[in-house]
Amino acid sequence: MERTTAGFPREAVADRLLSASVRTSYDPMVDIDWSAPPVPGAYWLPPTRSSLYGTPLWDAMTEDQRVELTKHEVASAASAGIWFETILMQMLIRQYYDADPTSRHAQYALTEVADECRHSIMFGRLIEAAGTPVYRAEPFDHLLGRWLKSTATGPQMYAAILIAEEILDSFQREIMADESLQPLIRMVSRIHVVEEARHVRFARDELTRQVEAAGPVALAYARLVIGRAAYSITRRLVHPRAYAAVGIDPAAGRAAARANPHWRATLRWSAQRIADHLTELGLVAGPGRVLWRRAGLVEG
Ligand SMILES: [Fe+2]
Ligand SMILES: [Fe+2]
Repeated sequence: MERTTAGFPREAVADRLLSASVRTSYDPMVDIDWSAPPVPGAYWLPPTRSSLYGTPLWDAMTEDQRVELTKHEVASAASAGIWFETILMQMLIRQYYDADPTSRHAQYALTEVADECRHSIMFGRLIEAAGTPVYRAEPFDHLLGRWLKSTATGPQMYAAILIAEEILDSFQREIMADESLQPLIRMVSRIHVVEEARHVRFARDELTRQVEAAGPVALAYARLVIGRAAYSITRRLVHPRAYAAVGIDPAAGRAAARANPHWRATLRWSAQRIADHLTELGLVAGPGRVLWRRAGLVEG
């Protein structure tokens, strides 16, 4: 007998997302031609989205070095993507441990984990195809991630998920639409955008309920954790060692990126949607807001 979700909005959303997952899901192992060589001279990221675009360091680079830098920036973002997804999968599985396995909500959570398993393999293959290092998080952030994935529940869990997913999504929507870029990164981005749209819907829906259910102390704590998550995610997007790949000292490259008005504008643009959404929910406030500002994601 078909289970009814009428009158259960949480179940109805999960039911729709399960149907959508059946209609449009990809297997990157089959749907991407991993053996195709990169297109010579094509960027991996719109050059205007490079963290050094518009700086004297950028002006001093050859065209080949600029292309190379965008490749390493993409590999850094993919490495960060794997890191976030591993954290996310563990958080979802931890929640599933207590859930009703017959509910559509729990079943969609498992479906999302299945999506993320394929995504992390896809990002691993992307890094391998790019021929770059895996750019891992710094030890302290790695430790914070371990703590978050082992303990986070409630609003901070879904808000952290959304920040990572929506910032990457902004870059990937632009990449998939830009025909001048490497075909491989465009296809990886298209697959991720299509499947992540469902994850964003699921997390936004759940976050609203979690905020309504949380008391003032839990919310104050959540704002701090969310601010720290936004800060870590943003700082982690471009690993400083990516600059070494084009002969730039990592500390000098990082300092130039942080002072670069183009890059600061890019970061604000990438986080605009999620920052507005979390602000509306009252989650970008108090001491946590200082971290959003230090991350360069909000002003004032
Ligand atoms: Fe993903
Ligand atoms: Fe996701």
